[in-house]
Amino acid sequence: MELAKRLNRLPQYLFVEINQKIAELRARGEDIISFAIGDPDLPTPSNIIEYMCQAAQDPANHRYPETAGLPELRQAIAEWYERRFGVTLDPAKEVLPLIGSKEGIGHMALCFIEPGDLALVPDPSYPPFSLGTILAGGKPYFMPLKEENEFLPYFKAIPNEVADKAKLMWLNYPNNPTGAIAGLDFFEKAVHFAQQHNLAICHDAPYTEVAFDGYKPPSFMQIARAREIGVEFHSLSKTYHMTGWRIGMVVGNADMVDALFRVKSNLDSGIPQAIQYAAVEALRGSQEHIAEHNAILQQRRDKLLKVLNEIGLKARTPKATFYIWAKIPQGYTSIDFTKKLLDEAGIAVTPGTGYGKEGEGYIRLSLTISDDRLEQGMSRLLTWHRRRG
Ligand SMILES: Cc1ncc(COP(=O)(O)O)c(C=O)c1O
Repeated sequence: MELAKRLNRLPQYLFVEINQKIAELRARGEDIISFAIGDPDLPTPSNIIEYMCQAAQDPANHRYPETAGLPELRQAIAEWYERRFGVTLDPAKEVLPLIGSKEGIGHMALCFIEPGDLALVPDPSYPPFSLGTILAGGKPYFMPLKEENEFLPYFKAIPNEVADKAKLMWLNYPNNPTGAIAGLDFFEKAVHFAQQHNLAICHDAPYTEVAFDGYKPPSFMQIARAREIGVEFHSLSKTYHMTGWRIGMVVGNADMVDALFRVKSNLDSGIPQAIQYAAVEALRGSQEHIAEHNAILQQRRDKLLKVLNEIGLKARTPKATFYIWAKIPQGYTSIDFTKKLLDEAGIAVTPGTGYGKEGEGYIRLSLTISDDRLEQGMSRLLTWHRRRG
């Protein structure tokens, strides 16, 4: 048996590694408090679950689903974009439901990247942007996201020949892992840059509804020319606490949406239909839980930031996403500091370098942890800090 060489180019998926390490320690009886994974701890709202249970009873939904997504779901996604962002989409051509946005992000590389092609990828960033590129045989060209530049890529620093050669640019705001946000002025600049260099843009926006202090993140699709050259990935995972059900969507440029559908229709058979109906209910039903969940996350954010500040881990206050991107003390690598927290305090976080080399000097903490565990975690951090003198 000989496995394909492309597998050797893939690092092990960061979260799989972290989960394994946590599982090993827990198997030894250690109580690990994990701030490592961005997976909402609160349940999916009950109206959505009830709708899904009803749909699961209907034999019509026991058969292969419609690969392109139920027309009702495409329509509900288009209506949601209209209501939330004032963006009008053609549900037949500019909307495609996905088996979670990660699946679509990974497959999109196959639509653009030939062996040796470049994709512009932020550093740090959500790993599937670069890993999808690598699996397609291409090379990521990393755009550093620097704190002094508000964690936005600086397009002028990208050499012309690189921008001309690249096929695709990935962007993600509100941003994982930095918690940074981008305004419409930045999206305008991105579209201008892409048009100058004949690039397609994939904007990944699963956190637009996880926002604090009254801030309402915009959609990339609000830029009039965005749909000439780009798409936006979105997800029900974070907004409706549906990570386990696997449902997301891509919207925007009809040719890009169709290209992704052509790849997907040859590889998967769509999203289980009971879950598609649940998504229709999520998008059309009451949205009240969003503000309630954000209020909980905002409280957690403020408490944790205070403790991090007290123990010398400086972090900006994120206006969106449930991540805190904290600076570690000098003299440690992100990996060493992560190990130290795990071994000495029983606290799991993710090392900044898991998202790219520009993540060196940072760790990411997720707020998707129950209030009880958060309190325990914070008191452990304070005790650990005092012990160190
Ligand atoms: C930036 C970003 N994009 C996409 C996803 C994947 O979301 P989904 O559950 O829809 O696959 C995540 C999940 O953590 C994410 O952080």
